[in-house]
Amino acid sequence: MTRIGIIGAGHIGGNIARFLARSGHDIMVSFSRSPATLDRLAADTGGRAVSPAEAAAQGEVIVISVPWTAVDAALAAAGGADALAGKIVIDTTNQFGPVAGGFGVLDLGGKSAAEVNAAKAPRATWVKAFNTLTAGFQASASGRTGPDRVVMFYATGSGQAAGTAETLIRDAGFDPVATGTLARADVGHQEPKGDLYGEEFHHDDAIAAVRRLRGTLPAGTGRP
Ligand SMILES: NC(=O)c1ccc[n+]([C@@H]2O[C@H](COP(=O)([O-])OP(=O)(O)OC[C@H]3O[C@@H](n4cnc5c(N)ncnc54)[C@H](OP(=O)(O)O)[C@@H]3O)[C@@H](O)[C@H]2O)c1
Repeated sequence: MTRIGIIGAGHIGGNIARFLARSGHDIMVSFSRSPATLDRLAADTGGRAVSPAEAAAQGEVIVISVPWTAVDAALAAAGGADALAGKIVIDTTNQFGPVAGGFGVLDLGGKSAAEVNAAKAPRATWVKAFNTLTAGFQASASGRTGPDRVVMFYATGSGQAAGTAETLIRDAGFDPVATGTLARADVGHQEPKGDLYGEEFHHDDAIAAVRRLRGTLPAGTGRP
């Protein structure tokens, strides 16, 4: 059993809370503007509604699952970079925000979204995961078995965090497949505009796709 501190209790954070509660993990949920939402999710998962600072302090693994534009506020509420030092942080965010008078994929100046967030708490060990498939699809596909089991891509620069991420992804009901490090040539393929983003993959096809893509830059996500 792992103590999971979830910061952001919406579609994806709520899913992860439910998936991992079913597998017996200890769940803390935080960072909603509605205390009732947190209380409901805590009741659904047998977990606890806490503050982001408590989630960061008490969680062995921290999940950051807020809109891109709320990441800085979420990290500040958690207690900043120091509060996350030594923790494994699973980042589900995608870089959507204001683009040319509308809403779209932000240009991060050649960096991956995962790298941009990881730089905000550099003594944490960051994992990017749970970001490629819609929340509704994840909720319906979790727990499939055999050849239909759905792949959940993840990326991290740490072998130890990779082991933890794989366990949690399996416990959440998916098949973990690594895209590599947080560098754009690896994780970028699982971020918006990457070839692995938004698509349902199964094990063998996922491995083949990652082998084909790694070391190339995903198209359309900013300057190389
Ligand atoms: N939805 C998807 O299909 C999907 C799929 C893959 C990845 N993602 C990514 O995962 C992240 C979370 O997505 P989501 O769909 O779970 O988001 P969401 O449903 O909007 O949930 C966001 C959570 O952050 C909280 N929050 C606290 N302060 C906030 C603020 N100032 N502005 C906005 N939210 C605030 C929300 O609180 P309240 O309860 O008060 O709203 C909510 O608990 C995003 O970066 C998204 O791009 C989403």
